[in-house]
Amino acid sequence: MKKLIIAIDGPSGAGKSTLSKRLAAALGYVNIDTGAMYRAVALMAGRQQIPLDDAEALARLCHTMKLEFRRDAQAETEAVLVNGEDVSLAIRAPEVSLQTSKVAACPAVRKELVCLQQRLGQGGGVVLEGRDIGTVVFPQAEVKFFLTASAAERGRRRWAELQARGVDVDLPQTIAEVEARDVADSNRLHAPLKRAADAINIDSDGQSIEEVLALMQRGVQCALGGKGQLS
Ligand code: DC
Repeated sequence: MKKLIIAIDGPSGAGKSTLSKRLAAALGYVNIDTGAMYRAVALMAGRQQIPLDDAEALARLCHTMKLEFRRDAQAETEAVLVNGEDVSLAIRAPEVSLQTSKVAACPAVRKELVCLQQRLGQGGGVVLEGRDIGTVVFPQAEVKFFLTASAAERGRRRWAELQARGVDVDLPQTIAEVEARDVADSNRLHAPLKRAADAINIDSDGQSIEEVLALMQRGVQCALGGKGQLS
């Protein structure tokens, strides 16, 4: 069967990570979390005290750091490794999230990471999640989804996720942070968050993961020439 390139774009907290992993597992595809790549660069820039406006030094960092994903299919986990170190938890720290928005606005960083993403995905059989997959990284992707949810819902999900991890944060503040990140990601000059004209729009407000997953699987069936139709 044909191995597709599937793009899932959308704002933070819309459920991209969960759905991308679930869809990839259901299809036997590889899941590529491109946000984790930008996060890893931000983490390493912080550790090496590289100013986030030093594009040349950031590009050098991208070039020299060894970025890998290690999948454990049985445990259904995916670790992000930088130079052999597991940084999966460190890249999710709130301060790294803030720095990542700045790093992701740097064209030199985007150029390096887009090349890497294209190399990883070019053979097909992949689900890539990010902000610019359907518009920049793989405009020729056979299936594109644009996953959204209201800022209030996305903030509430993010808040619940942090609470579950023992991080005590304020709900209104979390919603405000989600909104601020949307503004930064949508208004940056280079590769802003934008729906591809041919992407299937899915609003996950009030829908369970299973319901959204079923919609996506029908979208994939359509692309494979099956009978699935999106209503
Ligand atoms: O999806 P995430 O929250 O892990 O993404 C972290 C940051 O990286 C966020 O500010 C958006 C940015 N990003 C991007 O600019 N392009 C991508 N393809 C993926 C993420």
